[in-house]
This record gives sequence, C-alpha cells and structure tokens, in this order.
Amino acid sequence: MTSNLPQYNIQIFTFSAKNTYYLREMTRIIYLALCVLLIPAVTACSAQQPLKYETDPALHALLDKPAAYPEVNFAVMTDLHTYDPGLGTEGKAFENYVAGDYKLTKESAEILQTAIGQINSENVSFVLVPGDLTDHGDRATHELVAQYLNQLQATGKKVYVIPGNHDIDNPNAVSYAGNVISRVPDVTANEFEQIYADFGYKDALYRDPASLSYVAEPQEGLWLLALDSARYKGKVGETETVTGGRFSPQTLEWIEIMLIKAAQAGKAVIAMEHHPVTEHFDGMARYFPEYVIENYQAVSRLLAAYNVRLVFTGHFHSQDITERTWPDINKFLFDVETGSLVTYPCPYRVINIDGSQKAAIRSVRIQSIASHPQDFQGYAEAQLKNGVTATAASMIASYGVSGPEAQKLAEQVAQAVVAHMAGDEKLPAGQPAIQENGLSPLAWIGVELRKDLVESLWKDLPPPDNNVTLDLNTGGWQ
Ligand SMILES: [Fe+2]
Ligand SMILES: [Fe+2]
Repeated sequence: MTSNLPQYNIQIFTFSAKNTYYLREMTRIIYLALCVLLIPAVTACSAQQPLKYETDPALHALLDKPAAYPEVNFAVMTDLHTYDPGLGTEGKAFENYVAGDYKLTKESAEILQTAIGQINSENVSFVLVPGDLTDHGDRATHELVAQYLNQLQATGKKVYVIPGNHDIDNPNAVSYAGNVISRVPDVTANEFEQIYADFGYKDALYRDPASLSYVAEPQEGLWLLALDSARYKGKVGETETVTGGRFSPQTLEWIEIMLIKAAQAGKAVIAMEHHPVTEHFDGMARYFPEYVIENYQAVSRLLAAYNVRLVFTGHFHSQDITERTWPDINKFLFDVETGSLVTYPCPYRVINIDGSQKAAIRSVRIQSIASHPQDFQGYAEAQLKNGVTATAASMIASYGVSGPEAQKLAEQVAQAVVAHMAGDEKLPAGQPAIQENGLSPLAWIGVELRKDLVESLWKDLPPPDNNVTLDLNTGGWQ
C-alpha cells in the first residue's frame, strides 16, 4: 500500500480545524483502521484513488454486458532489444558489455529482420510490440527499428508500439570502439512519439496527456488500449528512469475513462503494456517487484472489471500465460506475457480470435538467422544458460560457498530459469528443484532460504504457455 491515502485524509482534516497534533493522530488511527477493514479490498488502498467501477452502481449494468470480440488475426513480438550494429560490435568495451548477457544483443538486428520476414508471411492484420524496442535506448537504434517496422506496414500489417523501460531517457545510450565507451543521443518521450508516429500515435483515437498511452481501433469493433507503464524522467511524477513500471494517478483515471467509453460504444477491448499485470509464478512480486506493474492487483482488476480478457505484456522475457480470476465480480483476465525476441526461445505469437470468442494462440520460435543457420535455438539456449549460471555462481560464491559447490547450485538455478523462459515448464519426474544431499552447511542454509523461488520457477501457473486456445466467454481453455 502507498502513502497516498493518509495524505488524502490529512488534507481533509487540515481544512476543517487547526489542532494539528490531535488531527494528525486521529488521521493516522483512521487510516490504519481503514486499511485493516479494507484488507480484502486492497485495491482501494493501493489504487491511490477510488476507481469509478467500485463506487458507481450506475456502471454495473454496463459492465454486466461484455461486448463480443470481432474475428481477428494478429501477432505479438516484444522485447526486441534491438542494438544498432553501427554502435560497435568489436573491441574490449563491447565484449565486456555482452559478457554474461542473457540476450543475443549482437545478433538482435538480424533476429528482428528474420522475425519481420516470417510475420510478413503470416495471415495477420496487425502486430503488437509492447516495449523494449531497443536495448540501449539510443536514437540511431530507434530509427533503425522504425525502418524495420515499416517493412510490416508496407505489406498492409498495421504496427502498434508502446515504450518499455529501455526506450526513453536511457542513461546507457552508448557506443563502443576498442576500449572506449562514448555517450550517444538517447530519446525523450516526445522524440519517441515522433519516431513511432506511424505505429500507433498518429492514428490514435485518444491520447493520455500524462503518458504515451493511447487508444486505437485496429479492427472495427476492437479497441486496443496501448498503455505506457514505463517510468522515465519526463513523465508525470518521475525523477529518473527505472526498471519497474507504474501508472500515475492521472493515467489510471484516463484508463478508466477510456474503458467506460469503450463499454458505452460497445467495443471489445484488448490491452498491451510492457510490465505484466499478474504474477507469472508464485512469489514473482516478492522476488522481482520491478517485473510486475506497481499495484498490479488493482490494475488487473480494473481491466477485468471492464471485460478486458486479454492483456499482452513482456519485460520478464518469459513465455508465460497466467489467468487471474475475481469470483466476487465474476471476472477473469489472461496476462499473455511473450518472451523476448532476442532471449531463448526467441518467440513471437500469432493470435486468432474466432466468432465463438475462442482465442487460439500459437507460438513460433526463430529457428535460423543468417549468422547462425544451424541450431540457432541451441545457440540461444546456451547464451541464456551460461549467462544465468555465471551470474548465479558468482552471487552464491559471494556468500562464502566454495566455487565448485556454487557452480553446481547455479547450474540448477539456470535449468529452472531456462525452463521458465521457454514456457510449459515441468520439473522432470523424480528430479528435485535443487539437490540438497551432501551440501556444506553454508550452502544448505542458502538453499533452504531460496529454494521456494526455484520451485516456483518450475511450477507453471495455468493455463499452458505456448499453444493454447483461450475461451474469452468463460475463462476456460483447451
Ligand atoms: Fe526487456
Ligand atoms: Fe523491460
């Protein structure tokens, strides 16, 4: 919960009397009492302001009648992390940057070109790209990405983008030459909007004045809520660029107004944003709070309340679909997180919604690029596995665990991460998530403290992740 509610109450009492000490104490007690009483409805405290659907009974009749999704085919690719090779791909400084990288940064432009070629041959009318279009957030790479995306639009496939945490005001916008790292221009929010004007912004039906969020109608009867969850310096209330995601109170209010407009106009709605709105494994919000949007419970419930059934996200680089349900309001939502195009298994998704409200999701892995015509998947998997193993081994060793034992534990962590990123993860029968026999006392303590995370990574939350048909009427799947 945030501190916004007590501030709100303090303002009310300050206006009504001058006995500030007494009123401050009363306010504190009332706030604590309110939060205890409202624990089941944690959304009211965490959403920073009352949401209309929670308080306005007139909206209930509107929300009880979801609009039907029109028949539509579209694709999703995300976390392109494109790196313009013109920034330098040789020399000590670049090698240091990519050492231990889980992503295929050096090959990112090649992978994007391959994906665009493949998507161009898919039967889809539009393509969603929910953020991290670039790795370094530099202007040259953004312009390169826009050129690539033009290749999709040239064949009549409309493209919609929103920014991720790497894309705006990125302090890591640099180039590499030998041992030298040099700062290069990044982009502001305004420049992002200009560069990607043809990919959502120019044709938006509505724009949020407080962020780069917009509404588009990619198909008659279907609204796309493209939501800017990134936190960059130029955004309302933000002082620096950070990894985590958030909607300001202004944007949250705008989102609800858009959802009301959609319901009144009889439009079905899908959403996309960079940061997931649900946990994708148990404990995700606790272990990786920057990888679900702030107030994710309130945000996901808000979307679901207005009959948004599908939200397309990225950011954690895993192929994972998770459903959340709210029996008290009889609603559900699928958070369809797509893995990064440049992180194993280098996927994109194709979605077909039919007249019976079934959304068939098919996932495609890039199998070959020009520089790796053979076993590209094996190459990408080794990059992820080796990167995670090296990071985990050095972290475990920093607690005093011996090198060989740290390496052995790190390899098991990496196996769980690789399985989670690929989706449809399942621990092989008879294999423990972490082998605990024969550990040194120090390693044993570490494993006891953290094995729940490794077990969670192995435990896939329903529904299936890669190929599945979701029922948008009932919340079931097959
Ligand atoms: Fe990313
Ligand atoms: Fe991200």
